[in-house]
Amino acid sequence: MKILILGCGSIGTVIARAADEMEDIEEILLHDIDRSKIDTLMSKISRGKSLEEGDIASSGADILIEAASQGAAKENIPVALESGMDAMILSVGAFVDLSFQNRCYSALKDRDINLLIPSGSIAGIDALKAAGCASIDVVRLTTTKPPKGLRGAKYLTDEKIDVDRMKEKTVLYSGPATRAVQLFPANVNVAATVSLAGIGFDRTQVQVVCDPATDVNSHQLYVKGSFGEMESVTRNRPSPDNPRTSYLASLSAVSALKSYARKIWISV
Ligand SMILES: NC(=O)c1ccc[n+]([C@@H]2O[C@H](COP(=O)([O-])OP(=O)(O)OC[C@H]3O[C@@H](n4cnc5c(N)ncnc54)[C@H](O)[C@@H]3O)[C@@H](O)[C@H]2O)c1
Repeated sequence: MKILILGCGSIGTVIARAADEMEDIEEILLHDIDRSKIDTLMSKISRGKSLEEGDIASSGADILIEAASQGAAKENIPVALESGMDAMILSVGAFVDLSFQNRCYSALKDRDINLLIPSGSIAGIDALKAAGCASIDVVRLTTTKPPKGLRGAKYLTDEKIDVDRMKEKTVLYSGPATRAVQLFPANVNVAATVSLAGIGFDRTQVQVVCDPATDVNSHQLYVKGSFGEMESVTRNRPSPDNPRTSYLASLSAVSALKSYARKIWISV
């Protein structure tokens, strides 16, 4: 099996290193807009090969694994699917864009291909998906991060909010997931995954909280429906090289890749 990793940053590196140890994977193609990121990752693995000009459709890869940005996902995931490749997406917030969503879904419709959306850095997606097979009344997600996990978010820049000056726990956003994903594109992919697994972007309620006293990225998920009630709390260690990204998000992608390679899906 040949895989293509788009984005050689924090998540891409964890995936590539794990793939390098997997016997089903023969070749790991790497692409990044930053050539130095490809070189650094190539030096850490033995089955890596650079795909400099990102010609995804003719790469011969079985699956495109996007771990770059919402923009990269929008540009490349539909191309991969339309050319008959499977795909895995990490920048799940891209799905708030309906034209992207529709293009992916229609590419999947007539082809024998799959789109993988790992659970990311949150527990409870399995139960949420099952609950969604009957009626759900409430889905509420509270994401709490330290200032360094939120720095640089579009909303903070636009509103000139300096999270590094915050002394107390502060609610930065409260409202539908639709807006949360647009305002914090690199911070709340989990909100997008929860929305897709449950009752959609408009009905999923999201709070984004900055807590200067914490050093973990935590997600609290509450679901109420005809099945009963469910609560999950995940306290994530941030990745050492990207404080916005929780280590568990990278591990969930590795787990998805293992299921894909072995064709055994547990808790689907
Ligand atoms: N699904 C989840 O739960 C979850 C969790 C954390 C992060 N993410 C998302 O996953 C993505 C990767 O996260 P990360 O922590 O590895 O980020 P990162 O910043 O560490 O790495 C991203 C890499 O992608 C490259 N890149 C950016 N745009 C590109 C493009 N258009 N084409 C090719 N390469 C490009 C960058 O140069 C960088 O090397 C981000 O969009 C992030 O928001 C998802």
